[in-house]
Amino acid sequence: MKKKLLGALLSVAMVASLLVGCGSDGGAATTTSDSASDAQTETEAPADNSEAEAPADDAEAEAPADTASTGGKIGISMPTQSLERWNRDGAYLDEQFKAAGFETILTFSDNDSGRQVNDIQNMLADGVDLLIVAAIDGEALNTAMNEAADANVPVIAYDRLIMNDAVSYYVSFDNYTVGKLQGEFIVEQLDLANAGDTVYNLEITAGDPADNNAGYFYNGAVDTLKPYIDAGTLNIVSGQMDFDTVATAQWNTDTALERAQNVLSSYYADGTQLDVWLCSNDSTALGVAQAVTSDYAGSNSVLITGQDGDEANLKNIVDGVQTMTVYKNVSNESIVTLGLAKAMLAGDTIDESLIPSFGIECAYDTESYETSEGNKCPSFLLVPNVITKDNLQELVDTGLYTMGDDGYLSAN
Ligand code: BGC
Repeated sequence: MKKKLLGALLSVAMVASLLVGCGSDGGAATTTSDSASDAQTETEAPADNSEAEAPADDAEAEAPADTASTGGKIGISMPTQSLERWNRDGAYLDEQFKAAGFETILTFSDNDSGRQVNDIQNMLADGVDLLIVAAIDGEALNTAMNEAADANVPVIAYDRLIMNDAVSYYVSFDNYTVGKLQGEFIVEQLDLANAGDTVYNLEITAGDPADNNAGYFYNGAVDTLKPYIDAGTLNIVSGQMDFDTVATAQWNTDTALERAQNVLSSYYADGTQLDVWLCSNDSTALGVAQAVTSDYAGSNSVLITGQDGDEANLKNIVDGVQTMTVYKNVSNESIVTLGLAKAMLAGDTIDESLIPSFGIECAYDTESYETSEGNKCPSFLLVPNVITKDNLQELVDTGLYTMGDDGYLSAN
């Protein structure tokens, strides 16, 4: 009985919270069906289904019996287990929500957006009260998003924005700043402002065009480097600069490796010196570093950028094969997501006044991101920071990595 009342109250609260989200400009998310709250009243923790192992792509992880499902059921849809960070994101989100008394369904969709639509549809059929989605392709989830809106299930776009007004809020890092930090690092390391007549040779590898973040990373870096490219201080020997030419489908390491090998054999085999390779993230930097190690004729060390703090890349940083990574603490990203989800389900006011309750530095941004033209998506954006060989200890200090006796870091 009490549960039913709570469910009814949550129903009103959830509709109210949807009204202030991205769908507020008349998106289908403002309908008043109470199907989501029905699901909430019926939510029970399953008898016993604790999973010690990370679930295989598309596997489900349910709340263990000792975690009473008091908060409702949360669908967590991650893109793939083949890129290191999403394993961490999935695990942290799952842990955080379970510890807060929610039941969870966690899926990985093997970088297949059709499968992600399917996975989300299954979560809706399972009666989830809220969806957290890191999209494989931000433009390919309309069917699932429209169904979520019809069922009154609010959606948090996690890390990657989804181009659909059913998204209520966006939690990510400041993506443009990620690229800017990479660009600024290059400017500082090479002291480009005082380069005089010296010319440094640069190549660029960007991310997946289907990922809305990829353009932000690229623009943040290229906007920072552009004055030096225009002045001739930075020279892109291959001439390959526009986003589509340097993009890497699905952020795939082997794809980045192959393109880097082609560039090296076509433009650097004659002994031309390569100074910098701007890579948008660690999975692409891994491929580029491999190509530079095996296929670059020169003996200078090439400055290679990255993003994430993947284990293999941190090893490359220790070994001097990669120069930096932009670290994003995804445990903190999951904590912000939990705080936001709780506030949404409780019908609390959602704006910057929520931030102190997260206990994590982030900005509330209502201008930068749109789910469709003119439809701004309120966003909570965390702060990325630069990691090099010299400050690896900062990662250990997060408690999320351990440094072995060999000096290499492993994620806990
Ligand atoms: C994330 C990056 C990640 C990339 C590939 C992006 O959307 O923001 O952290 O490196 O996807 O997984």
